[in-house]
Amino acid sequence: MSILIKNGRIITATDDYTADIFIEGETIQSIGKNLNVHADEVIDASGKLVMPGGIDPHVHLDMPFMGTYSSDNYETGTRAALFGGTTTVIDFILQTQGKSLQSALQEWKGRSDNNAVGDYSFHMAVTDFNEETKKEIQHFIEKEGITSFKTFMAYKGALMIDDRQMVGLMQEVKKHGGLINVHATNGDMIDFLIAKHKSEGKFSPLYHYLSQPEVTEAEASSRFADMADYTGCPGYIVHLTCEGALNAVRFATRRNQHVFVETCIQYLILDASVYEQDFEGAKWVMSPPLREKKDQETLWAGLNQGLVNVVATDHCPFMWEQKLMGKDDFSKIPNGHPAIENRMELLFSEGVSKGKITLNKYVEVASTNAAKIFGMFPKKGTIATGSDADILILDPNEKHTLSAKNHHMNVDYSAYEGRELTGKVKTVLLRGKVVIDNNECKVEKGYGQFVKRNKVTGKI
Ligand code: URP
Ligand code: ZN
Ligand code: ZN
Ligand code: ZN
Repeated sequence: MSILIKNGRIITATDDYTADIFIEGETIQSIGKNLNVHADEVIDASGKLVMPGGIDPHVHLDMPFMGTYSSDNYETGTRAALFGGTTTVIDFILQTQGKSLQSALQEWKGRSDNNAVGDYSFHMAVTDFNEETKKEIQHFIEKEGITSFKTFMAYKGALMIDDRQMVGLMQEVKKHGGLINVHATNGDMIDFLIAKHKSEGKFSPLYHYLSQPEVTEAEASSRFADMADYTGCPGYIVHLTCEGALNAVRFATRRNQHVFVETCIQYLILDASVYEQDFEGAKWVMSPPLREKKDQETLWAGLNQGLVNVVATDHCPFMWEQKLMGKDDFSKIPNGHPAIENRMELLFSEGVSKGKITLNKYVEVASTNAAKIFGMFPKKGTIATGSDADILILDPNEKHTLSAKNHHMNVDYSAYEGRELTGKVKTVLLRGKVVIDNNECKVEKGYGQFVKRNKVTGKI
């Protein structure tokens, strides 16, 4: 099977030109002006942008969390991702404390194998680092193709590790060519504030926000950067939200260190005013919480300064019924919000259309950098001969409105209901196959493949 994409404006992290793309099988065979080739199918992309498929390196599908499961599974979640132009996601396997990493991998494979529609990979969340876990690290990097290890500095009792474990894990991961990603918030401070608010009879979603002030994130980000510097281990801070935390990273650059930074689309465009409504605010109860306007400005600037490398989602959807588990107590509201389908269009509309970032920066932070940081480049994350034909064709001018009425995520509300966007996903290819065309999905579950990743360099 071969496909010719004609006359599109091709955008990569570095280039911007008009040409044809010839795809044979799963990969790009050639790129050039007026290619004279036989193709089984021709797609006219005149007037459209042709970009690498999006990569979302922070999603939680079918994840056991806070007494329930996130409501998108591998099928619904990766399909919704494709509808929104994201062709590859990286999910998190959670080790159960007291058990092995391998047993967690088997559990996650049970949920993902033959169920994904789009491509996916895993980060391995180490929640219990000990002599046994230590022996498994090398195997994960060299044999499983899982080269990033997630750590939590919060959620004590379930997911959190202490600094002694963090330093030990960093040394082992560095030795074998991996990277540590971190949920960097001070779990003990947060637990203290949650208990304080509850003892004062304060139970509404607003107090979720007030229990995780900026300092809890700034402190942990700074501590993480120090430990990464000390061990020399490549580090990546997930879902960074605020000025104080980004300043910790900025400070690290002054001693010639580089810590990778991910923010999520919601932190760029939503702010904490949503928590002023009563229980409705539960839709945006996530950790860390939404912040202030000044933090949004810091994050947009951070993208342009090259300090913020990736825009992900932290997609962790819960049905309204599940959110209601916390109707009398904010600390029981399952944390997380749905965005896997909306990220590429939101970032395009709010970032590119409004002139906050360039088209090249858009591709860089929505696709290329994640591929590079996590060891998938140039198979994923760019448009080049030999790369997987993962391609997003987007109409930069078409306007549309986001709504739960027509989204494909398995969640009964939209965190962006009624938001008007400029720029719409038209056609999506994954490994040389048209998977989305005109609001229709053309493939079934099982099409999505597990992406084995390479050792990381700690550089992009
Ligand atoms: O609220 C969030 N972020 N839920 C998912 C788990 C995590 O901390 O990333
Ligand atoms: Zn043919
Ligand atoms: Zn987190
Ligand atoms: Zn997360």
